[in-house]
Amino acid sequence: MTTTEDPQTAPAVDPGPLIRLTIADCAAKVLHSAVTLGVFGALADGRPADSAELARRTGTHHRMLPDFLDALVGLGMLERTEDRYRNSLLAQTYLVPDSSSYLGGFVELTNETLYGTWGRLTEALRSGEPQHLDPDKGGFVGDRHKDPAKMKRFLAGLDAYSDRMGAELARRLDWGRHSSFLDLGGARGNLAAVLVEAHPHLKATCFDLERTRPLFTEHIGGLGLADRVAFAGGDFFDDPIPPADVVVLGHILHGFHTGRRRELLGRVFEAVRPGGTVLVYDRMIDDDRSDPERLLSSLHMRLVSPDGSEYRVADCRAWLREAGFTDGTAQPLLGTHTLVTAHKEAA
Ligand SMILES: C[S@@+](CC[C@H](N)C(=O)[O-])C[C@H]1O[C@@H](n2cnc3c(N)ncnc32)[C@H](O)[C@@H]1O
Repeated sequence: MTTTEDPQTAPAVDPGPLIRLTIADCAAKVLHSAVTLGVFGALADGRPADSAELARRTGTHHRMLPDFLDALVGLGMLERTEDRYRNSLLAQTYLVPDSSSYLGGFVELTNETLYGTWGRLTEALRSGEPQHLDPDKGGFVGDRHKDPAKMKRFLAGLDAYSDRMGAELARRLDWGRHSSFLDLGGARGNLAAVLVEAHPHLKATCFDLERTRPLFTEHIGGLGLADRVAFAGGDFFDDPIPPADVVVLGHILHGFHTGRRRELLGRVFEAVRPGGTVLVYDRMIDDDRSDPERLLSSLHMRLVSPDGSEYRVADCRAWLREAGFTDGTAQPLLGTHTLVTAHKEAA
């Protein structure tokens, strides 16, 4: 307030939400750094540690650590008793490396691929152009397949999601009625692996670009599932899509413009056997376009791709009906996504 302002006429609106929003990315960055530095792994065994001990365990400098660690307490990632820290239940469940519920790969993927790109949102809004990181700095989003190590990290980050997605999908559908499924754009086959583990009678195929085959072979071989999950290499717009009782499209439609989505769903309809089912999931936008998280996700797709965006649930259902499917039931999935399930009439 300047000295000339009258406190009686100063605005009564609390600026707190504005300030918090202004610095919201600092909180995200604290989480990203904690994962990258291995803070949660360093506390995984349950032995609390003070700041000096954590500096040793994580190879960090002491100067900033107390503020960093207490910020993590405030953000719900650590707990502090006197001067010693331990993981919160949330961090212990999802951020301890090598645990089956680990989501740190997704956090790191976010740090690596989103952070710099979002720093260019203003330019993107001015030009309408997607923004990619400088390829010389190794962060070019659209080019990651050229670097196998980067591609592997990307897919491992996606697996953090597909483990949980697979477990959910395993419960959501009456898989006993079906004998085969195809994961379209199934990457290195992780979702397919989770589903065949949950329903051993299922025969699974992962369809993805031929260049993904080596990553699939390595991952599925490592899981010991090579005889239960097959790989079909091809372009889903140009090559035949193998027939299956159930076709899954996870994080696929959001990569393309509406015309391509409709075209792809038409091809999927041909691939689904009569009496079969299609499952589509993405971070779909609520029909009122009011959920900021879904809209941020959509904006992200526009930032990293020329044609991608999230889309409304109603649009997805309309495209599925247009392709020939019936129903089109929408359900929330994992609190972050929407699952739309539609059917192809029995012959
Ligand atoms: C965003 S990832 C989604 C992976 C996985 N479905 C998931 O949800 O974790 C998109 C996948 O689609 C594959 N893909 C993209 N365009 C494709 C095309 N034209 N034909 C076949 N696969 C494609 C990519 O290689 C990638 O594995």
